Amino acid sequence: MIERDGEPGGEPGGGRGGGPAGEPRTGAPGGRGVPARRGRRTAIVTGGASGIGRALCRELARRGLHVVSADLDGEGAARTAEEFGCAGAAVDVTDPEAVRALVRGVRDEHGRLDFVFNNAGIAVGGTTDELTLDHWNRTIDVNLRGVVHGVHAAYPIMIEQGFGHIVNTASLAGLTPAPLMLPYTATKHAVVGLSLALRAEARAHGVRVSVVCPGFTDTPLLDHANPGLPQTATSAGARLAAVRAQGRLYSVDALAGDVMRGVARNKALIVAPASSRLLWRGVRLSPAAAVRVISLAARRLRG
Ligand SMILES: NC(=O)c1ccc[n+]([C@@H]2O[C@H](COP(=O)([O-])OP(=O)(O)OC[C@H]3O[C@@H](n4cnc5c(N)ncnc54)[C@H](O)[C@@H]3O)[C@@H](O)[C@H]2O)c1
Repeated sequence: MIERDGEPGGEPGGGRGGGPAGEPRTGAPGGRGVPARRGRRTAIVTGGASGIGRALCRELARRGLHVVSADLDGEGAARTAEEFGCAGAAVDVTDPEAVRALVRGVRDEHGRLDFVFNNAGIAVGGTTDELTLDHWNRTIDVNLRGVVHGVHAAYPIMIEQGFGHIVNTASLAGLTPAPLMLPYTATKHAVVGLSLALRAEARAHGVRVSVVCPGFTDTPLLDHANPGLPQTATSAGARLAAVRAQGRLYSVDALAGDVMRGVARNKALIVAPASSRLLWRGVRLSPAAAVRVISLAARRLRG
């Protein structure tokens, strides 16, 4: 788990899978061999108003971090902040200047930037022939550029301070072929690739990078697919399709616990629930067979 501030060995991401020997670990007072760093640890969570982001804010705040819940929905971000003793910020992750101001603001005010959870995202569904370029562009803007903006703002600061952990939310759809939501699938694959490559690069600087790949999780995302975009049969029935595809939706609280444990262990990929890890393994074992099975499932979903 990400330990509470002030607890012995309380470095976020401490334990297994740390950086190279002798490399300073993400700092915290009292950690073994960790240079003393002053002040309360900080975390920014985008998409903090709802679902997974809201649960992450709660878990991080519980562990004593100073948390900023940032969301396009400023009122929702403020509600999360009030509920869990965080700060709230109205931020659109498609706006690079707004993201940069958020990230710099936290570093300037608190003297450190420990975690950035690039989690905001939208669901977009439909058969590829019925999707417009607006569906594609909006998904790329939020799900991919939103993450890029977070990385671009936070990574140089983390390099400079010699620690920090970037945690990007992708999806199981970033590891497996997921038909009927191609813009979503494409952006989530990009987030997985970006995160793993950045992890390899960032290691030399003492900066950590993880990527979260949840299966279908019980959040409001499934009730408002294609936000501000033309609806399709798939987007209108996203929740039902998710239940049919996965059997049961994963609980957001269980996922938040998985993320906390995965981040504490500095895992490269955090994939949950277990059924998602199984599907991912199947795709790696036999991509061609997996595509055939997934294609049958997609045909059933389309009706
Ligand atoms: N729920 C699932 O089944 C599931 C599965 C895999 C991955 N994910 C991913 O998890 C992340 C969180 O999704 P969730 O399920 O909690 O959904 P959610 O809809 O409950 O929360 C997403 C939040 O992101 C915010 N947001 C959307 N566009 C934004 C923007 N431009 N700038 C800032 N904030 C913005 C929304 O206002 C919302 O509060 C997303 O990246 C999503 O793709 C979700």
